Amino acid sequence: MTGETVHNLRGDYSRMRPDYTVEQEWDGYSDAEHDLWRRLFARQVALAPKYACDEFVEILPELHFGDGIPRFDEVNAKLKPATNWQLVAVPGLLPDITFFDHLANRRFPVTVWLRDPKEFDYIVEPDIFHDFYGHVPLLFQPVFADYLQAYGRGGLKAHALGAIEMLARLYWYTVEFGLIETPKGLRSYGAGTLSSGGELPYCVDSPNPNRIGFDLLRIMRTRYKIDTFQETYFVIRDFSELFEATAPDFTPYYELLQGRPPHEASTVLPTDRVL
Ligand code: PHE
Ligand code: FE
Repeated sequence: MTGETVHNLRGDYSRMRPDYTVEQEWDGYSDAEHDLWRRLFARQVALAPKYACDEFVEILPELHFGDGIPRFDEVNAKLKPATNWQLVAVPGLLPDITFFDHLANRRFPVTVWLRDPKEFDYIVEPDIFHDFYGHVPLLFQPVFADYLQAYGRGGLKAHALGAIEMLARLYWYTVEFGLIETPKGLRSYGAGTLSSGGELPYCVDSPNPNRIGFDLLRIMRTRYKIDTFQETYFVIRDFSELFEATAPDFTPYYELLQGRPPHEASTVLPTDRVL
C-alpha cells in the first residue's frame, strides 16, 4: 500500500536511508507490544482455518508468528530459499515510486511500529501487524510472489503513463482484499482482510457485499472504500489466473480506460460473474 506523501504520517522518517529503509531495532519493542502482538495474532489465527486460503494457513506454523513480534532477519532466512523475496524495514507508507521499486526487486516493505491497544479492531495506517501477518505468508507462494514483483514493475511503468490510480485499484482488490475460490468455498488471500478481526469473516460469510469473478479491466475501473468494509470483493479461481491475466502489456488497457468514468464500489454490471 502506498502513500503519495509521507507528511503527517505516524512513523519516524528522520533516520531512514535514501530508499526509505530503516533498521527494525527489534530489541526496542516493549513487553506490552509483544503482548499486544500475541493477542492480535491469537484472534486472527483462530479465524484463519475457516476464512484464509490454504497457502496462508499451511505456512503460518513454520513462521512462529505467535511468539511475539517477529524478527525480520529470521523470516528473511526462510523467505530467501523459498521464493527469493526479502523483507525490508520501513517507517510506514512510502512514496509510490519507492514502493514499486522495492517490489520490482523482490523486497517487501514492512512497517516497524505496532498500533496502540485502543486500535485493536481498526487502524488507519498499516502497522507491523498488518504488514507482517497479512502480507508475509503469501510471499512464500511462488506464483503470488511472482505476481507481486510483476506488479512492482508494472507500477513503475504506470507511473510514466499516468495510470497509477488504475493500478492501485488492482492492488487493492487483489493483494489487499482478494478472494479465491477453493473446494472448501471462498477464502481470503488479501492482507487487508486476513489481518482484520471484523472483515475476515465478513468478506466470506456476509450476505451484504458483492462477490464478482476476477475481471482485470473491470477492477481497474472500480473505486474502493478505505474507511468501511468493502462493498465488492473480486474472486480469483487460482493464483495462475491472477498472474496470467495481468501478464499482457497494460498500455492499451490504460488508454481504453482513461476516457471512461469509474464504477462505484457498489456497482454490479450485467457482464459481471456474480458469485
Ligand atoms: N503487465 C503489466 C504491464 O505491462 C504489469 C503488471 C503485472 C501490472 C502484474 C500488475 C500486475 O503494465
Ligand atoms: Fe497492506
